[in-house]
Amino acid sequence: MMSNTSEELMISPYKRHAIMCTGKSCGENIPLLKYIKTAIAKAGLTEGEDVVRVNRAGCLGVCKQGPIMVVYPEGIWYADLNESKVDKIIESHFKHNKPITDWVFHAQG
Ligand code: FES
Repeated sequence: MMSNTSEELMISPYKRHAIMCTGKSCGENIPLLKYIKTAIAKAGLTEGEDVVRVNRAGCLGVCKQGPIMVVYPEGIWYADLNESKVDKIIESHFKHNKPITDWVFHAQG
C-alpha cells in the first residue's frame, strides 16, 4: 500500500511555498530567484517553524507585470518584483505574517 505522509516521503515540512516565475514573458528572473533564495537563507527561514520553500515555475499563466511570485498557503500573488521588494516581503510577510497588500494583485478568497 502506498503512503504519502511528508515523513515517509522525506519531505521537510515548510510553512510557506513561494513560487517565482522564471518564464520568458516575465523576463526569466534567474538573478532574482537566486537573490530570494539567498535572502531567505540570510533571514533564517530555511529551518525552524517559519521555513519558506522557494521554487521556480516556467510560467504561472499571467504573463504581465513580471517578475511574479505566488505564495501559498495564502494564495497571494505579487507582481513587479525587485530585490528591494523581495527584502520587504521576506521581512513583513514571511517573518511577521503580514503580506504587503499594496503589491498584491490577486489573492485567494
Ligand atoms: S512567463 Fe511569467 S507568468 Fe507567464
